[in-house]
Amino acid sequence: MSKRDAPEHDETRGLTRRGLFRSIGAATLVAGCTTDDPSVHPEQAPTPDVDGAIGLTPTPLEFVLDGQPQKLEVEARTTLLDLLRLDLDRTGTKVVCDRGACGACMVLVDEVPRNSCMLLALDVAGASITTVAGLGKSSQLSALQLAFVEHDAMQCGFCTSGMLISSSALLRRSAGQPLERAQVEDAIAGNLCRCGTYPHVVDAVLSVANGPGAARRGSELLRAKKGGA
Ligand code: FES
Ligand code: FES
Repeated sequence: MSKRDAPEHDETRGLTRRGLFRSIGAATLVAGCTTDDPSVHPEQAPTPDVDGAIGLTPTPLEFVLDGQPQKLEVEARTTLLDLLRLDLDRTGTKVVCDRGACGACMVLVDEVPRNSCMLLALDVAGASITTVAGLGKSSQLSALQLAFVEHDAMQCGFCTSGMLISSSALLRRSAGQPLERAQVEDAIAGNLCRCGTYPHVVDAVLSVANGPGAARRGSELLRAKKGGA
């Protein structure tokens, strides 16, 4: 007789392995549904003391968004991406994979590029968040945004805001120092572009980093950073 055909309970050998696992599973279920006090029915168990617990009700949250102080209440389960797009209408920050794989949702958190779909909103309490909308204005694009236009660095545009955020972070870090192509490629390694605009993005960033006025722009970024802008 094969193991698959073996009976659940062989009276001659005692409990079988499958029967043992079933018993353990049932015991675990029962234990999980009962209170410590065997005299109390589960439905009559007292409500746990939740004073001060985070997660059951909206929690106050303060942070700075594109230079503007924000004061609001969010549920603990809310991601930064959902807060930005659904509650604060910052739809320039894109959602594509929603699982930290593509970089479309990138924002700067205290100058560091982070995937906002992988952060809880409450994790950025007290931080300074910069979205693509904070890099420039539609009436006055930043040098980097203009370079993206001039170098045809976007097609469908889904990756573009994340690409701009990663590139902007690199320019801020380098503070006017000339950049190599490989440094830009490294900086945008977390940003996926299904349209394949990578070479154009790199050209655009290099034109800002190494073009005329690069050192002046770098020192302006550095001043802005030191001033907390
Ligand atoms: S949407 Fe966040 S990494 Fe893709
Ligand atoms: S421009 Fe389409 S995904 Fe990058």
